[in-house]
Amino acid sequence: MAHRIAVIAGDGIGTEVMPEGIRALEAAAQRFNIDLAFTTFEFGSCDYYLAHGKMLPDDWFEQLKGFDALFYGAVGWPDKVPDHISLWGSLLQFRRQFDQYINLRPCKLMPGIKSPLAGREPGDIDFYVVRENTEGEYSSVGGKMFEGTEREIVLQETVMSRVGVDRVLKYAFDLAQTRPRKKLTSATKSNGISITMPYWDERVAEMAKQYPDIAVDKFHIDILTANFVLHPDWFDVVVGSNLFGDILSDLGPACTGTIGIAPSANINPEGTFPSLFEPVHGSAPDIAGKGIANPIGQIWSGAMMLEHLGYQEAADTMVKAIEDVLSEGDSQVLTGDIGGLGNTLSLGQAIAERIRG
Ligand code: NAI
Ligand code: MG
Repeated sequence: MAHRIAVIAGDGIGTEVMPEGIRALEAAAQRFNIDLAFTTFEFGSCDYYLAHGKMLPDDWFEQLKGFDALFYGAVGWPDKVPDHISLWGSLLQFRRQFDQYINLRPCKLMPGIKSPLAGREPGDIDFYVVRENTEGEYSSVGGKMFEGTEREIVLQETVMSRVGVDRVLKYAFDLAQTRPRKKLTSATKSNGISITMPYWDERVAEMAKQYPDIAVDKFHIDILTANFVLHPDWFDVVVGSNLFGDILSDLGPACTGTIGIAPSANINPEGTFPSLFEPVHGSAPDIAGKGIANPIGQIWSGAMMLEHLGYQEAADTMVKAIEDVLSEGDSQVLTGDIGGLGNTLSLGQAIAERIRG
């Protein structure tokens, strides 16, 4: 049976890298006999907003809920629509309503990409950041009192539920189990945040009992960020609350070079709702329309999507194709952000060709 994929290219370079993402997926689908059916949607973009006064149609949930996955480009065009409207009106709706409680980002230094960390080679940095994506510090519990007076008070509560903490930890431990190093690092701050963070630590210790073969350690978030920079080779799977995960999931990929190649996934592991796969980068208005955006973030996100759908070998082949094309380092093929003279199309085509084998 065909896997139904909803394609939402969004804005700016989202519309330029998406065709290369699809090209690569079609190449993998053909080689590994996977039946993918793509359906393209115009909503979830600023042009749609300008035409309809909203980012999504009222029945978006009904339209999308039956899909097996959402493949997203990038959203945002700040000159036309304020970012809080475009982002909250689209991506953040999907993440919440489809209960995509895992945000997953690989941090892997690829061949031919210069790490901003001195002396690091491919192989030195290869870990995942797993971020809790639905609760924690990003809650709507709180309020303001005595606004505009000297007694002004603002409160915003961190919300951690046992269900919410345990399910992200389980996902992270399961992921660690699939990896050769079998190591899990937890981000905490139980020395300063004295109620929720000790609770987080407690749930980590409890979950660890079910995974005796996983080596577990934890760091307070402040020194953990330093260690990402000083010792990125220490990490395998790193799990954090919504806020800590947010910080780490930008810092991690930043340690591996250009933003143009980093992929991400927002996952509903049970498959009750579709999961969403998208590059880390945004719509890049500064280079949009020139055809020079790096398509690797989109293509790699497509590989994560195939992995999620159960096609590990196809996913591995896609990532290997990206690595091969990067190691070859043909300047006519590579995009400008990674030192080449090529464009979105030349790089996308070269990778698709590799995937075809
Ligand atoms: P951005 O990621 O769009 O761009 C940051 C810088 O990186 C720019 O100089 C851009 O040219 C470069 N860049 C990004 N992707 C690239 C690629 N594939 N190849 C080569 N260079 C690339 O972030 P920025 O400028 O802060 O945001 C622009 C818009 O994108 C805003 O509306 C923002 O809200 C939105 N955004 C959307 C995201 C999403 O859809 N998930 C994520 C981040 C930003
Ligand atoms: Mg962030």
